[in-house]
Amino acid sequence: MSRDPVPGNSGIKGILAGPFRQVIPLMGLPPKGPLSDSALHVIEEGGIFFHGERIARIGRFADLYAECDRRNTGLQEVAGDHVLLPGFIDAHSHICFGGSRAHDYSLRLQGLSYQEIASRGGGIWTTVTATRNMPLPELTAITAHRAGVMLSGGITTAEVKSGYGLEPDSELDMLRAIRSAGAAQPVSLIPTCLAAHVLPRDYAGDSSEYLRYIAGVLLPAIRRENLCDRVDIFVEKGAFNPAESCEYLGEGRKQGFDLTVHADQFHTGGSRLAVEMDACSADHLEASGAAEIGMLARSNTVATVLPGSSLGLGIPFAPARKLLDAGACLAIASDWNPGSAPMGDLLTGAALLGIYEKLSCAEMLAGITFRAARALSLQDRGILSEGLSGDAVAFPCSDFREIFYHQGSMKPVKVWKKGALVYGDV
Ligand code: NIG
Ligand code: FE
Repeated sequence: MSRDPVPGNSGIKGILAGPFRQVIPLMGLPPKGPLSDSALHVIEEGGIFFHGERIARIGRFADLYAECDRRNTGLQEVAGDHVLLPGFIDAHSHICFGGSRAHDYSLRLQGLSYQEIASRGGGIWTTVTATRNMPLPELTAITAHRAGVMLSGGITTAEVKSGYGLEPDSELDMLRAIRSAGAAQPVSLIPTCLAAHVLPRDYAGDSSEYLRYIAGVLLPAIRRENLCDRVDIFVEKGAFNPAESCEYLGEGRKQGFDLTVHADQFHTGGSRLAVEMDACSADHLEASGAAEIGMLARSNTVATVLPGSSLGLGIPFAPARKLLDAGACLAIASDWNPGSAPMGDLLTGAALLGIYEKLSCAEMLAGITFRAARALSLQDRGILSEGLSGDAVAFPCSDFREIFYHQGSMKPVKVWKKGALVYGDV
């Protein structure tokens, strides 16, 4: 970069925000395995320089201020104690849905399991009916509203699954709603096709036939409309078995989709398939044992754990500590959905998982930033680094550990998306 000899007349242009007591860029950290808080590089009295949609510079605020072109720099001064982090990434959600499952909840409180409720005709099918009956503009609006709630929790990118349509036209409508909701508010929504969620009650055939039908009819239609690049399947008793899932995922890959799997939620089998198929991620993993942990650790498949689902169902957390110690890449996502994870708050889920599984703050933070980016194959976000997307979040504290210590009750005060302040006081 050329520097003008007259101070303040040249140099970096854009928007300079700060000073923050701490800026945690999360650069240069290992993608897999354990992470200690002491491994984090902390910039004291730091700042961030945005240029357009990207990060131009990270560093000490005083240095950035001295280098900037004052006439062409917008200053966003931050008074008081603040910590700046990369915008959070929620790598697994189902926020596009109609209706409520409070009735399922009351049955769970009486002791019925998630699967018992599903086999009695409730569960996912209840939400399929409500979602199919919701007009598209309403489905779009409610999805955008939930994305706004995520933004207020510091999330700047969220994966969103279909899977409550379960027939081609309704699935396409869900993906269209996700696309429109993404365009209507700041959070980037990454759509995933989960038409292989469960066998729909109104399909006249068995689960293998259904999978062949959606692979033959729906996936090509998604490609034609360019509605998503990712395919997911629920591998579980009562959903789809590993053999038919393998065939379906193979077909998805042939058609150019990235793969992800709802794996080992109640029984094992899904994570092995995810690893064998070299899927981007295997998600849930509450039932994973030593064999599955070892396979995931040796693979490139991200182990995405979903504490909100354990909290929603009252079942044990996925073995996050063991996964990290074995060397896996651990992402943490909300799984926000009306059935198993209605609370939907990523930070609360990560912090509660952290205290039960003994994760460091660095491991929790990695799981909702750069390791979550990896689960979604996104290379342009998840850390604060020059040239990457200007996605950042500021919390009102002087030490990053306070964010997790408050278990989700400390909320962000400012969020930037693509270099623009989109939440909090301008
Ligand atoms: O990730 N387990 C399958 N799918 C979702 C729940 C969907 C629902 O119950 O509506 C999950 O937990
Ligand atoms: Fe899920």
